[in-house]
Amino acid sequence: MNNMAKDVIIALDFNTAEETLKFLEGFKDLHPYVKIGMELYYAEGPAMVRELKRRGYHVFLDLKLHDIPNTVRKSMKVLAGMGVDICNLHAAGTTAMMRAALEGLTEGSNGGPRPLLIAVTQLTSTSEEVMRKELLIDHPIGETVRHYAMNAREAGLDGVVCSPLEAGIVKEACGSHFLTVTPGVRFADSSTDDQSRVTTPARARELGSDYIVVGRPITQAPDPVAAYLRCKKEFLGMEN
Ligand code: C5P
Repeated sequence: MNNMAKDVIIALDFNTAEETLKFLEGFKDLHPYVKIGMELYYAEGPAMVRELKRRGYHVFLDLKLHDIPNTVRKSMKVLAGMGVDICNLHAAGTTAMMRAALEGLTEGSNGGPRPLLIAVTQLTSTSEEVMRKELLIDHPIGETVRHYAMNAREAGLDGVVCSPLEAGIVKEACGSHFLTVTPGVRFADSSTDDQSRVTTPARARELGSDYIVVGRPITQAPDPVAAYLRCKKEFLGMEN
């Protein structure tokens, strides 16, 4: 297993390679862990992943796969071949789908290090009220996250994506080595945007997050590098 250290991952939610690479110019010496999501991947494809890997970045490819097991297995094999460091899927896709995904990643890694595989439990934009009214999930959100995390662990995955507010529940159920990668992070003095289960970087650390995923508070900041360093300082307790 690789990349077990705690870190801040910047969500590169842009839709062109040009904008992405321009944004990263200020970060040349810092080499932050970055996340490529659907927006950038659908716009620029595997070339974007390869370019960032070539430049020495650790890449979390956040495509949240959710399909029949065979399709997910074959797709994960392709993603492993791109050399990504972390990739993910929806735990709602079932334990069979998660096992198949892991097989695909292992096959695609050709005996080299396999990308970490993590499962989305519930999106941090989803509230308990929406779960109950729209998705007909009557259990409290913490219970659902805990159950999905245990399914992921059972399937052999490395961790989950969840809200920092649920990191403790996941660690308690699945063990301290089971990774918690947590979006939904905001500075105490910034807007929550469309996220509904949010917390600050410092609180995320206290709650047991291993990696925090931060998008707009860094990408839309007047000084993104300063915002990133503030985030790292609050999350890791380090000086800049
Ligand atoms: O801008 P913001 O900090 O809200 O960005 C959060 C990032 O994390 C986005 O790229 C979003 O797609 C992703 N994400 C999330 N909730 C999840 C999984 C991923 O917000 N459960």
